[in-house]
Amino acid sequence: MRLRRQPEVKEKLKQYPVLLPANPSSMAGIWRQNMLPNAPLILEIGMGRGAFITSVAMQNPQQNYIGMDFREEMVYEGIALLKGREPQNLRFLWQLAEILPNCFAPGEINRIHLNFPDPWPKKKHAKRRLMHDRFLNIYEQILAKNGDLWLKTDQKDLYEFALATFIENNWPIICATENLHSENWGNIETEYEKRYVKQGKPIYACRVMHKKCPPHLVAKEKEKQEVSLCNILAVEDNVRL
Ligand SMILES: C[S@@+](CC[C@H](N)C(=O)[O-])C[C@H]1O[C@@H](n2cnc3c(N)ncnc32)[C@H](O)[C@@H]1O
Repeated sequence: MRLRRQPEVKEKLKQYPVLLPANPSSMAGIWRQNMLPNAPLILEIGMGRGAFITSVAMQNPQQNYIGMDFREEMVYEGIALLKGREPQNLRFLWQLAEILPNCFAPGEINRIHLNFPDPWPKKKHAKRRLMHDRFLNIYEQILAKNGDLWLKTDQKDLYEFALATFIENNWPIICATENLHSENWGNIETEYEKRYVKQGKPIYACRVMHKKCPPHLVAKEKEKQEVSLCNILAVEDNVRL
């Protein structure tokens, strides 16, 4: 994503200590304290300019959301979308996905969204893909055992790589589609998605559960008639199994 380097952004970000905690490792285990204490906590990794996370947080004020990106310009753009508001259910994190276990307690997150992650098409860069084994090992730590992960991408190869990696690592696949926009899954489009849809590209999506999700809960999720990408999680989903 092209965005001009803006050296002053780091300083500007200091004006938002509530939306963007200055020391995220000190927040591990207590993110909910100043948000909605009993509500689920949903994390988007690689949020870009933040169109998705800000929309979904506004639409679902009863759930907690965190948008993260390692580029400070992106985080600043996300905060700017709020036009001065500081919703209680939304926070930002300026970090690399690699260090997520420093920022969250085990099982603190109920859902992860990976929206249009960088594809890193060359085989030698496969380790950088956000659904590579090494990232699944990270997500396994911070995601509650009854938590789930949603992936959306326009890249067929990346989608197939993700499905194969989920299967190899025993993350149960609940649903998957090669044409998200032909499904009625309550989708909220991201910035990249809008661009790809305009170009007539199909959008690939899937939902997987934590690899240690109890089998009866996996079966329950698979049996559900309705699939919903941005649904309100049930209160029991907030229990850290
Ligand atoms: C292709 S953009 C997608 C942006 C947005 N999710 C969307 O769908 O419009 C990928 C984003 O992921 C971020 N990103 C890539 N690798 C990351 C990592 N290891 N940790 C955190 N963010 C990352 C990039 O800075 C970029 O903003």
